[in-house]
Amino acid sequence: MSKIKKAIIPAAGLGTRFLPATKAMPKEMLPIIDKPTIEYIVEEAINSGIEDIIIVTGKGKRAIEDHFDNNFELEHHLKKSNKLEILDKVKQSSSVNIHYIRQKEPLGLGHAVWSARKFIGNEPFAVLLGDDIVKSETPCLKQLMDVYDQTGQSVVGVQEVPLEETKRYGIVDFYNKNGNTYEVKKFVEKPKSNPPSNLAIMGRYIFNPELFKFLSEQKVGAGQEIQLTDSIEELNKVQKVLAYNFDGKRYDVGEVTGFILTTLEFALQDEKYKDAIEKYLMNCGYRYEN
Ligand code: G1P
Repeated sequence: MSKIKKAIIPAAGLGTRFLPATKAMPKEMLPIIDKPTIEYIVEEAINSGIEDIIIVTGKGKRAIEDHFDNNFELEHHLKKSNKLEILDKVKQSSSVNIHYIRQKEPLGLGHAVWSARKFIGNEPFAVLLGDDIVKSETPCLKQLMDVYDQTGQSVVGVQEVPLEETKRYGIVDFYNKNGNTYEVKKFVEKPKSNPPSNLAIMGRYIFNPELFKFLSEQKVGAGQEIQLTDSIEELNKVQKVLAYNFDGKRYDVGEVTGFILTTLEFALQDEKYKDAIEKYLMNCGYRYEN
């Protein structure tokens, strides 16, 4: 049994990249095929063995709470009309409790995580960001939980990105590598130039509760926001934080092109839609090689 039981999912962002779609709808509710992006994240947490999730929401995010609530009328209707397969999809998993807290002001990712401190208390915890969906044999978060359970050290999920994309991510400057695990000299949020490596933080983290000490200082960093990466860097100075290059394919659903490509790839992997899409692409003159 893992020591990690609780997870924070920050979902308070304004979703400006997806406007006007996100004017009245949370970006976390935008679907990849037929499932809101946040449900992929919640499923990963459940499949990793997380028991309690706290979603940090903000203004205009009520649809997320409704989505993870039971909808008795709908369930009754589906049962009556014998649509059991769909019923299965809308029923909520009973293996996890989902809680909500509001981030009072959009001050940054570090502030969103800090908002959940009372729920976490004095135990190690996970953070999952909704902009990254990971497909892997062992759930990405579970891979990090295994590292934590073996070492007791906070650990950040990373993958390599092209050098020109490093300015979009938290980047890891490492000094030692052992298999997939890196010992880290420095964590830098969105380096404008001279990135120390191309290992980027990919929205999956396990932290010891000491992180909150640094988050509570609420120092403003890159983009004039309270950055999570800055507190990880402070924690790393007193208590080593590892980086782990996880197995699996990561899909960026936090920006429009990535979102479209993820939808396309997920549809091509789905027997229900694959043939129709391949046929369409072929008619357009594209060739899809599986
Ligand atoms: C956040 C983090 C960044 C991380 C990224 C992963 O940035 O601050 O360190 O690399 O998520 O998706 P954001 O994309 O929210 O600006």
